[in-house]
Amino acid sequence: MSAQNPYQEARGNKDASITNPRPGGTLTPGTAPEGRSAAHPGEPFLIGDGMTGGYGSGADILHDCTLAVDRGEIAVIVGPNGAGKSTAMKAVFGMLNIHTGSVRLDGEDITGLSPQARVAKGMAFVPQVNNIFTTMTVEENLEMGAFLRRDDISETMEQVYELFPILREKRRQAAGELSGGQRQQVAVGRALMTRPQVLMLDEPTAGVSPIVMDELFDRIIEVARTGISILMVEQNARQALEIADKGYVLVQGRNRYTDTGQALLADPDVRKSFLGG
Ligand SMILES: Nc1ncnc2c1ncn2[C@@H]1O[C@H](COP(=O)(O)OP(=O)(O)O)[C@@H](O)[C@H]1O
Ligand SMILES: [Mg+2]
Repeated sequence: MSAQNPYQEARGNKDASITNPRPGGTLTPGTAPEGRSAAHPGEPFLIGDGMTGGYGSGADILHDCTLAVDRGEIAVIVGPNGAGKSTAMKAVFGMLNIHTGSVRLDGEDITGLSPQARVAKGMAFVPQVNNIFTTMTVEENLEMGAFLRRDDISETMEQVYELFPILREKRRQAAGELSGGQRQQVAVGRALMTRPQVLMLDEPTAGVSPIVMDELFDRIIEVARTGISILMVEQNARQALEIADKGYVLVQGRNRYTDTGQALLADPDVRKSFLGG
């Protein structure tokens, strides 16, 4: 982390230089065992399996598309503009009707559930655009994130402020006045207020500087280490794959390559076509 020259260290989800100051993690309720579905061993914790569908009655955008993430792991989706990355995220979150395939969370088929019902099941989604309430203060944004909760949210808010200290400083400011990187912190913080088991992020580092991007990735690794699964779309493909346990390259709504982040980074074809050589 910032105190120790983070940019000279090897990065990656298992990077020992990124420490978790809250061992065991308290962002998520109870214990969060790492790995696959506890209810259905052998099955990923969250999977959008063979998803085919599109918008309304329009043509299919996704074609037999599969995305999955295990507990406490980071799965990264990359691919060209218009490949269907955002569409696939919406499908997993229940914002798109898929006519083939299913979405399963911890072994349970949730394909028919609304987005709100998925939030109640432990999923949180930060969309690519319009992901904060710009006229509300930072703290009001965090409170809005917890609107489904009936218990005391102050501890979670404290954890969000520990994760993103600048948000505590700016908690009385309108979120729309913050920098791009800070606004993304608000969006991620708001999603964390539901104490999710799965955090879905669509291009969380869009429009931020490389240093702010590295900072955000470090915080995302920290979140994953509390046992929360991260399913993330990124246009900074190389950097994102460096921290990915699993990577997906999507092209025209289809899975083109699926492997560990490291294997994708080492694959000459992936490098040439999707990582700029
Ligand atoms: N709301 C929408 N209604 C209809 N088509 C859409 C909508 N959003 C995206 N699309 C189409 O779906 C395809 C995939 O878009 P998208 O999922 O946004 O790609 P990516 O996130 O990979 O850039 C594109 O052809 C795009 O025009
Ligand atoms: Mg997109």
